[in-house]
Amino acid sequence: MNSTQIRKRFLDYFKAKGHEVLPGSSLIPADPTVLLTLAGMLQFKPIFLGTEIPKYKRATTVQKCVRMIDLENVGKTARHQTFFEMLGNFSFGDYFKKEAIAFVWEFLTKELKIPPAKLSVAVFEKDDEAYDLWREDQGLPAEKLFRLDEENNFWAAGPTGPCGPCSEIYYDLGPSVGCGRPSCQPGCDCDRFLEVWNLVFIQYDRSDNGELIPLKQRGIDTGMGLERIASVLQGVSSNFETDLFRPLIQEIKTLIKLPEPEESKLRIIADHIRAVTHLVADGVLPGNAGREYVLRRLIRRALRLGLVLGIKGPFLWRLAEKVILEMGDFYPNLKKKKEQILATIKAEETNFLQTLELGMQLFNQAILEHTGKKVLPGEVVFKLHDTYGFPFELAGEMAAEQGYSINEQEFKKEMEKQRERARLAGISSDKNKSKLVGLDLTRFGRTKFDGYEKTSEAAGVVAVLPKENLVILDQSPFYAESGGQVGDTGTIMLDQQHLKVIDTLLAPSGSIVHLLEQTGDLAPGAKVVAAIETERRKIIQGHHTATHLLHKALQEKVGAQVRQAGSYVGPDKLRFDFSCLAAVSQEQLAAVEARVNEKIKEKIKVEVLEKSYQEAVALGAMALFGEKYGDKVRVLKIGHYSLELCGGTHVKSTEEIGFFKIIHESALGSGTRRIEAVAGQPAIDYVMGLVNSWQAEILKTTSHYQALMTELGQAQKGGKLIVVEPAALLQAIKKYDLKSVNQYLDQLAATLANLKEGVAKAERELKNLKINQAASSAAGFVRELVEINGLKVLTKEFQDYSMQMLRSVSDTLQNQTGGCLVILVSLANSKVSFLITVGDNLIAKGLAAPKVAAVFTPFIKGRGGGKANKVEGGGQDSSRLAEAFQAVIDLVKANL
Ligand code: ALA
Repeated sequence: MNSTQIRKRFLDYFKAKGHEVLPGSSLIPADPTVLLTLAGMLQFKPIFLGTEIPKYKRATTVQKCVRMIDLENVGKTARHQTFFEMLGNFSFGDYFKKEAIAFVWEFLTKELKIPPAKLSVAVFEKDDEAYDLWREDQGLPAEKLFRLDEENNFWAAGPTGPCGPCSEIYYDLGPSVGCGRPSCQPGCDCDRFLEVWNLVFIQYDRSDNGELIPLKQRGIDTGMGLERIASVLQGVSSNFETDLFRPLIQEIKTLIKLPEPEESKLRIIADHIRAVTHLVADGVLPGNAGREYVLRRLIRRALRLGLVLGIKGPFLWRLAEKVILEMGDFYPNLKKKKEQILATIKAEETNFLQTLELGMQLFNQAILEHTGKKVLPGEVVFKLHDTYGFPFELAGEMAAEQGYSINEQEFKKEMEKQRERARLAGISSDKNKSKLVGLDLTRFGRTKFDGYEKTSEAAGVVAVLPKENLVILDQSPFYAESGGQVGDTGTIMLDQQHLKVIDTLLAPSGSIVHLLEQTGDLAPGAKVVAAIETERRKIIQGHHTATHLLHKALQEKVGAQVRQAGSYVGPDKLRFDFSCLAAVSQEQLAAVEARVNEKIKEKIKVEVLEKSYQEAVALGAMALFGEKYGDKVRVLKIGHYSLELCGGTHVKSTEEIGFFKIIHESALGSGTRRIEAVAGQPAIDYVMGLVNSWQAEILKTTSHYQALMTELGQAQKGGKLIVVEPAALLQAIKKYDLKSVNQYLDQLAATLANLKEGVAKAERELKNLKINQAASSAAGFVRELVEINGLKVLTKEFQDYSMQMLRSVSDTLQNQTGGCLVILVSLANSKVSFLITVGDNLIAKGLAAPKVAAVFTPFIKGRGGGKANKVEGGGQDSSRLAEAFQAVIDLVKANL
């Protein structure tokens, strides 16, 4: 049975047993207490806890999972992976142990026809009920049934939340693969007993302090590893030899230059690329924290192994293509995002490869330098991390390969120093959101959100966390930050107290959490009135609807493959990140901007449809990354133009958006671009700000131009000036008339460009004019030449002469006299510029220009440089100029 058939058999079986076949969720869990989806039950956590009412009592899924906890074991054992698929069946307050055990046994032994003799079972040591069910209901012989401790047979998704005793089914691979110890039995860490299925009897909620609180409704959560059961059914000795891995490993082999590559390395690469491909498909980008870091670590780890195996250049993206080919039928998401996936992986590879070899050199050198203690200093590891992009753990693994350890303490100190530097540089984190980290608000459940219709309402206080300034109400018109839309601000009124709400956040369990400046006398049970800041919300709504129009317009004008990759919708602006491989041209941007304004002008009705997820997708609604497969979803419909899943708040007609203007477009890493735009009042403010600053610049340039013209004696010539009337512009904006607005802006730009050209031309003219004037005035200076022993000398100072003007004076004098000594000085703003020239006749007499300069410059605290007949330079002090001139005269006299 191949893996496709196994998945189908599984889902069909449980469907026949009354389970609803549901899609697995994204690898990015809605629940922030875990980094990545690590089990099928995760999307159902609120249901198990009783904070969400399930639509179905029984469900079954195939869930993609990533578990980093097994990273070290990947490649070492036959059965560990970071990415795997979990086949699960779930009961929400419906059947319990008896049926769960019966289903599992029937499926394994009747459907899959696994001989019962090959199977053994473990139960939690105190769970007599499960023990008896296996013995009596299923007739399992006592020697096949084991009681294991809490560590083995009590399951929880995390330190808190739903959990319970479990029962595991093992497949016996035979003594030949076992450790041979007499104590070897299910639960042993050797390869003999392969755990294929885990049945968790969910019956507790573990609280923050570790207490087990019985749940009102018990449930069933099971998980069978697809790769493991495939290995059993396909009769191979490892997951990596199943059809899920074989084609991929084959592909890797074709890339490798070594004759006999190490099998474990192939397996690690194959494992990692599956995880990487799915993570990117679910919207994770490589980065330095959280799941972004997990992704980066996996890519870089696999890449280094490739290098060790002799693969040159980026190669993982090619393997990703293979993964997409192999898994794309069951996970259509992979096919849909193919280009983005490949581009993201390739970019991260290219990025790391640039420094990988340099980093390896540093690493190898450090290894040589520390052969004594066999410990790499934290500084080296930090440098590998910071400069060469080696994840800390990767450096650790490389060191371990050589029998070295690394000084983690020192590394942490370096990281701390860097953080401090970053802090001083003013880089702050998302402060408000971080207030929820570590708080378990599950017990408060989902807050009723009334903000689609209301802007204020009466409500009751459910919880107050005075230390954190957080408040939860039983219902609220405050939109909590999600889907890119920022949280509302406003007021919570308690009698005479008006308490300011500065942000609103969404707890994973669905509580709307109000962040206040201070909680005043608020206490649970108090009656309050909650009111949002409506003007701000209106602007946000305009931005949000505009974001949807922008998404659609980009697909029309840039390419159908454009997909949203993230967004920010705030009162100041909107930001839209999207996947797109090529750069976006100015023409395309202008067309997109125009299209959005066209749609605004059309006054299209904006409606919300409530649909099931499947219905919505079938309708053609765009699904965004991180979207959950909830029962009912909101679909935002903008006439016949746009259809998107969206939980945010929106205007009622596109007319309310008013006016839309793109303010910035840029690349955001590979394959992703970012547009920043404004709509409504912020757009008007933006355009007016632009116009005002341009007008100011035009006025300044005009007066500069006119001054230049006056100096040139051509007053007012060419002074034709267009200044756009702000009132006229405002009217155009209000008529949503992008074309006129852009015409105004273009006109301003053209006016300014014209003026600047005029200024540059006038400046050139003026310069030439002055140089000519200086040259002609030089004729008059001939009379000022003094003669010392037959040599002609002129010392003269000017105000505000450029060096070019000094030169033209000197040239004229040298030409007219046939050789003389000229020292010209120009004074401007207490700075001195000077030019010393001498004719050949003076050089012949030992009076070269540098020699003259050496006597002259000390008096003006100056310096100069040049050749035998010319030195130019400047100085700081003009107070002793007369003495300086005299010193030169003395030099000439003395020289003769
Ligand atoms: N949630 C259970 C597990 O992951 C089934 O083992």
